[in-house]
Amino acid sequence: MSVSAEASANTILILDFGSQVTQLIARRVREAHVYCEVVPFHGAAAALERLSPKGIILSGGPASVTEATSPALPPQVLEAGVPVLGICYGQQALVQALGGRVLPGTTREFGRAEVDVVAPCGLFEGVWAHGSRHLVWMSHGDRVESLPEGFDVVARSEGAPFAFIANEARRIYGVQFHPEVVHTPDGRALIENFVLRVAGARPVWSMASFRETKIAEIRRQVGQGKVICGLSGGVDSAVAAVLIHEAIGDQLTCVFVDHGLMRLNEAEQVVTLFRDHYNIPLVAVDASDTFLGGLAGVTDPEAKRKFIGKTFIDVFEAEAKTIGGAKFLAQGTLYPDVIESVSFTGGPSVTIKSHHNVGGLPERMDMELVEPLRELFKDEVRALGRELGLPDAFVGRHPFPGPGLAIRIPGEVTREACDVLRQADAIYLEEIRAAGLYDEIWQAFAVLLPVRTVGVMGDGRTYDKVCALRAVTSVDGMTADIYPFEPAFLARVATRIVNEVKGINRVVYDFTSKPPGTIEWE
Ligand code: XMP
Repeated sequence: MSVSAEASANTILILDFGSQVTQLIARRVREAHVYCEVVPFHGAAAALERLSPKGIILSGGPASVTEATSPALPPQVLEAGVPVLGICYGQQALVQALGGRVLPGTTREFGRAEVDVVAPCGLFEGVWAHGSRHLVWMSHGDRVESLPEGFDVVARSEGAPFAFIANEARRIYGVQFHPEVVHTPDGRALIENFVLRVAGARPVWSMASFRETKIAEIRRQVGQGKVICGLSGGVDSAVAAVLIHEAIGDQLTCVFVDHGLMRLNEAEQVVTLFRDHYNIPLVAVDASDTFLGGLAGVTDPEAKRKFIGKTFIDVFEAEAKTIGGAKFLAQGTLYPDVIESVSFTGGPSVTIKSHHNVGGLPERMDMELVEPLRELFKDEVRALGRELGLPDAFVGRHPFPGPGLAIRIPGEVTREACDVLRQADAIYLEEIRAAGLYDEIWQAFAVLLPVRTVGVMGDGRTYDKVCALRAVTSVDGMTADIYPFEPAFLARVATRIVNEVKGINRVVYDFTSKPPGTIEWE
């Protein structure tokens, strides 16, 4: 059996009941070098058939099993005869399906809790000893009132007498806390025990095996056809392009549209990397006049985003035609974009902003998609990039939004404003790199405000624009915390920007987390 075939024969299925942190379960499983997939709970039957998993993990969720309309455990889960771990709602759904009782909680318990280990359990081996006490992260409302037959309590907390239950004979486990979050320090080891020791999955999922599988898949899908790939300058599309090039060589053409809204020297860096370093056929289109011309007078954030998205497609389509005959469109779509998350609220979620990347294309273009990164998380894409030999400096780059600097210039976007912002941004990032902080930060950038303030330089009065600095830490960009720079660092950056960038005379730091702020300003 090849390494990759072995990886798919050692799969864990994660059934999603709508928890905010279901993806973290997948990450923990992959950290144990085991392949896994997240599937909505109602897709259990088909997924079990397709994947033949070694074990099943049931996620938490916002519903209450005590309500008739809440999702019940799909019967196929227990029929599969493989080990099952239910987390939070997953535990309650298991208990209910097996004949135990769950009652609505009168109080909800969130946050830190301590559990005492009161009996041995297959998941504790090498992690938790009998009689020991451990920190966990609780988040639950309902509580288990009586256990189904064959189950024992193996760990309990003051507020949760059924914090950890087990039926060793059937290899079914339930936890009321969340082992997948970092606030449960031993959670990763507990999940690893479930996956490797109890479910018996072999730790054969690696980037090398992924690369091997994908190259074979791409060759199979594409045959002799031509593929085009839109490069955004970001990591995802670059890694996808290099992987596809390794699979099919010059059947791939990359298209890089420079909308004039890139950071300093970014367009040149992308073109050089692809043409000189990788020898990948690349069409670079300077469409900055079209973009900046069209943005003249546009100040509304959504109007900017929509115009940029549409224009990008127009330019890309025109280029695709000149290449001629491409049947396939490659994209760097990632796993978080494709997981079909379970909505319990029914209606569509509110549009905060119209995100755009090359993702708007397929609806308008008659091409088949090639998306080799669909199963990966961002940090896994970075690992694959390294595996493919992409330079560290490129692979570790902060995310950059499709609409580029346009959404970092509130108000009208002009070529001059872009030039000013580019310089400030470059100084900021240069200082962050020099301080060795770049890799600790998810994203850092400068914003050019349409506000002018009075300053004094030398003996003269200035009346120039304000630059805001933003830096956040995040796992997936969905929530974010501000990066707590030392004031001296910010002062150094501010001094450099005001001294070196003509047009800016004041610098401020953005202290807003997400939520309530978003990462980008527009
Ligand atoms: P927000 O501003 O929504 O950003 O908190 C979350 C993350 O997404 C990036 N972002 C985008 N990425 N096209 C993209 O490819 C977009 O239109 C877009 N808008 C925001 C943002 O930089 C952050 O990493």
